Order: sequence, then C-alpha cells, then structure tokens
Amino acid sequence: MCGIVGYIGHPSASREHDALEVLMEGLRRLEYRGYDSAGVAVVADGELHHRKKAGKLANLAAELEERPVPSAQVGIGHTRWATHGGPTDLNAHPHTADEGRLAIIHNGIIENYAELREELLAKGVEFRSETDTEVAAHLLADVYRTDGEQDLTRSLQLASRRLEGAFTILAVHVDHPDRVVASRRNSPLVVGVGDGENFLGSDVSGFIDFTKEAIELEQDQVVTITADSIEITDFQGEAAEGKAFTVDWDASAAEKGGFETFMEKEIHDQPQAVQDTLLGRTDASGALVLDELRIDPEELTQVTKIIVLACGTSAYAGTVAKYAIEHWCRIPVEVELSHEFRYRDPIIDEGTLVVSISQSGETMDTLMAVRYAKEQGARTLSICNTNGSTIPRESDAVLYTHAGPEIAVASTKAFLAQITAAYLLGLYLAQLNKKLFSGQIKDILADLGEIPGKIREILDGAEDVKELARSMADATSVLFLGRNLGFPVAMEGALKLKELAYIHAEGFAAGELKHGPIALIDDGQPVFVVMPSPMDRHSLHAKVVSNIQEVRARGARTFVVAERGDQAVRRHAEVVFEVPETQPVLMPLLTTVPLQIFALELASAKGYDVDQPRNLAKSVTVE
Ligand code: F6R
Repeated sequence: MCGIVGYIGHPSASREHDALEVLMEGLRRLEYRGYDSAGVAVVADGELHHRKKAGKLANLAAELEERPVPSAQVGIGHTRWATHGGPTDLNAHPHTADEGRLAIIHNGIIENYAELREELLAKGVEFRSETDTEVAAHLLADVYRTDGEQDLTRSLQLASRRLEGAFTILAVHVDHPDRVVASRRNSPLVVGVGDGENFLGSDVSGFIDFTKEAIELEQDQVVTITADSIEITDFQGEAAEGKAFTVDWDASAAEKGGFETFMEKEIHDQPQAVQDTLLGRTDASGALVLDELRIDPEELTQVTKIIVLACGTSAYAGTVAKYAIEHWCRIPVEVELSHEFRYRDPIIDEGTLVVSISQSGETMDTLMAVRYAKEQGARTLSICNTNGSTIPRESDAVLYTHAGPEIAVASTKAFLAQITAAYLLGLYLAQLNKKLFSGQIKDILADLGEIPGKIREILDGAEDVKELARSMADATSVLFLGRNLGFPVAMEGALKLKELAYIHAEGFAAGELKHGPIALIDDGQPVFVVMPSPMDRHSLHAKVVSNIQEVRARGARTFVVAERGDQAVRRHAEVVFEVPETQPVLMPLLTTVPLQIFALELASAKGYDVDQPRNLAKSVTVE
C-alpha cells in the first residue's frame, strides 16, 4: 500500500530530468497502490518545498500548477492509502519536522507510534496530523539533533531501530541536498540504478521510465543514494548488500495499450498471461520441468499435506488448486486465508508444504503467515507474479506466474495465471509421485495449451454479457452459485462485482443454497450460475440444474455460464453465456472470464473508476 518514489540527479547535469517530473511520473505509475492523497517534497536553493493534497494525483497536479515548486534535483513523492488518520490534506505525506527542514514519506504501520508520540510530546514536539508517519518524522529530527553527528544516514539507522511494525521511509533534509536516505522493514523498497542519477520506488514501476537496473533491499536495511553512489547498510551501520536484478518488462507493458482502462486491457491480456505462464515448462520429452522452483524434487516426494495460504482473489485460486491437486495427486490440501492461519494453532510437520499465492508478493497477511509457517518447520513455496518481491524471496521455493504487471487494483489476469501455475504444480507433484501416467500429464498440458485461444473466443464473443451488464446498472444485489470447481469461480464473480460496481454480491456453493441463502431469493433477484461440465464425473450437472429450478421457482432471474453444447441447461436459464469446452478441471480458466467482463461493464455503466475502486489498494502491505 502507498506508493513511494525518490529521486536524486546531478546538480551539474543538463537537467534533462527535473526532480518533480520524475516524481510525478513515478507517482502516476504507482497510484494503483493507494489514491487517498498524494504529495511531493523537493530541496532547492537551500529550502524544502512541499505540496500535498487529499484525493487522487490529479489534485496534487492541480495544486502544483497553482503553487509551483522550484526546479530541483532531489525529491521524494508519495501516494497514500490511509491507515492512521483519514484521507485529508493534513494527513497526506510528506510530513515535515526540524522546523520544515526535513521531510519524510512512509509506507506501512508503525506499531509503537503512540508510545513514541508520548515521548516526543514530553519533549515539546507539536503534532499537526493524526498519522504515525509524523511521529517517525519527529523521531528522526530528534535523533538528528541530539546525535550531534549531523549525519542523515546514521540518524535514520538509529531512528529505524526504535520503530516497530512495518515501514519503508524516505527522507530528505536541507542540510544534505545531495542525497535521499531510506530504510525498510517488512515493507518493500527498490533502488533504480541510473547514470548520474538514482531512484527509489516501492516497486520498479516507480522508475521504469528511466532505468531497468534495480536493487531490491533486504529486510532491515538503510540505503543512501546520491547522483553517483548507492550505499546500503543494516540498521547498525554495517555495510550490506541488496539483490541486483534487471527488470524484464517494458514501460509499455504498464500502459493501457489502446484500451479505455487497465482493467479492460488486463482482461484482454489473459490469453497471453496463461500462455506465458505455461511457457518453457517442459523438456524435449514433454515431461514437466519446474527448475525455477529451487527445491529438491526428492523433498517434494516427501510431502504429505499441503496448506495453501492467500487472501482475496488469490485465495480463490487456492481453492481451485486444492480441487486440482487433490484430484491428481491424492495429497490432502487445505486452503486458508493467511490472516486466519497465523492466529490459530495450525498443525504443521516436516511433511507439510505451505504454498502461498500472491500476485504482489507483498501482501502483509500472507508474508506474516509464510514466516509463521517457516518458524513452525514447514517448507514454503510461493506462487507469485512479482519477481524479486518479499514473499518469494523469503520462501524456500518459487513458481512465478508470468502475467506481467497488473495495474488495475482488482485482479484479473493474475488470477488466471495463478490458477495455471497451480495446475502446473499439481501436475508436477503428480509426475514426481507417479500419480498420473506421463501420457495423462501430456494430455492435460495439451488442453492447457489450448486455453489461451479459448479465452480469446470468449473475449471476442462477449457482447451479450456486456449488454446484460449495461441493463443491470440499477441492480442492488446479485448472487453467484457454483459447485465443485464452479464454487471458487462464483466467489470470484461476486468479489469482482462488489469491488468494481459496489453492488451487494454473494457467492455460494450451490449445494448450500437450501441451508439458508435461498431465503434471499425474491421476485427478480438476479442469480448467476456457473455450470459444471455435463461430463463432470460426479454428475453434478443435474444437481446444479435442480438448484437453478429451485431459485427460478421463487422468482429469480437466472444467468448461466455453461459449456458450449450444454443443451440441457438452456431451458432453465433466462440467458446462457457459452464458453468453449475443455476438461472439467480446467473450466475455471474459462468460466471466470464472462463474470469479469460482467463486473467491468456494469461498473463502467455506473460511471465508476474501475482501475481504482474506492477504499482499495493494489498491494495490501499492512495487516
Ligand atoms: C481482488 C484482489 C485482492 C487480492 C488480495 C491478495 O480483486 O485483487 O483480493 O487478490 O488482496 O493480493 P495478492 O495476490 O497481491 O497477495
């Protein structure tokens, strides 16, 4: 949460890059991380100049038009997702201290801020905002003043040692116009390595327009960037190293590519996301090779139980993983929301493999759950879309999805890529444990290979879903039903609608209907039903048809997502959205797509910002 960017250029350079331009461009790309307020601070002509505004980045841009800051070579910028203190101008970052000579920005939550605030109040500090960040600003100023060394890096090391919780902090000071200093604990920070200039960002999109060379900071490190140098230490001041890498995607991958919104683009990116996630996973004989896992295959054969940890959409991908892995591998799989897992007494032994699923790789709930699982002795494997992010770095093994950068806050292409990666993992375990014949694995992989083309077909024929969505802009509640692999899809369909269109939506296991939710059905209640394949081996098709009849009998309108050629369901539904045929276990990769399009179109018809829905942030880096 919160987007952070820092810049330092050469004072003697041609001034090709003005600090403010770099910061605003970085913030524009990072705005998906939070958009409650935005602010910048630059140091120029021996003074600190800062501007901040509640609301989206456009408000800050307007403020800067009205009250410009001087041209500068050093600065920091922030886009906020509010935690402590509401989304007001006053609570926006940067926060200043040391009589307006020091400015800091912060991502995370400082858990001991109340205690530090008391301590600073006793020293006569006056606070203007309700934020934990302002406490950190005054703490840093206090350390800077009392330490006597006038060394900003050293002061940040000392101050960071006093902070508890999660933080990435960037600071500039008028005494040191040649540098930006930053520290991190439990919150991401990446350095962008330039030529005669350097950058800082919450992630690489903060500087992707300027450099692709990056260094990921490790836990509890402080970095000082000048135009020509990058120095990393730990909180004790000992020299340390980050992890250098080259960004393998282009700035254009983070652009809208001709679509109206990132969300629409990302839904259309899905065939590519699935294809890229499948790419290069087999050897010449057609056997699966997941070398990047970084885990000894022998160890994987010892796994007796899998626990999948994730939140939100990623947890629904986890449920798909459970059904597929148990079906193919006969290994028990539990799926648990990360934040619930950590605060009970889960049973973990040396045979337990914990598989975390996270698009961002930074979700604090999942990170903490993975750490907890490791402490309890589990092996950990991360399915993640963000190269070099914290969760895969801290896991024993990693399987990257290759969906490319996902900018829209609501997840779409990452979800399908996560499901694809989960299938690969399931098939790999089945191969290692000889639970499927190699011919069976090849057949499934061949069917997976056809999925991208089938998603394209759905995208090309989506006009009827869009039309229905536009006609339902006044709906106040929509229910989603599914059974077996249709259940997580129904949950995801409901979540997309809540997030994007702010409509009450619930996903249910269709079998659960008669145990309570059927009481919600009234005349005209819209109900989406995700049909199982008519080929489903448990004959669930007939059972879901019965569920449709039950709700129709009570006045519901039924919209059904079903396999092409599923004639039997036609007479029970008001509208049928067809998806191409595939193996029953792979159906979620197709049945999800009409539901995404429905939510997108309905929210657009209501005039909502689908890329940045209210109250949400892309990376939830607080607990
Ligand atoms: C919903 C959505 C969220 C995320 C959840 C986990 O559209 O995007 O529910 O899935 O916050 O995020 P990651 O996958 O980054 O851990």
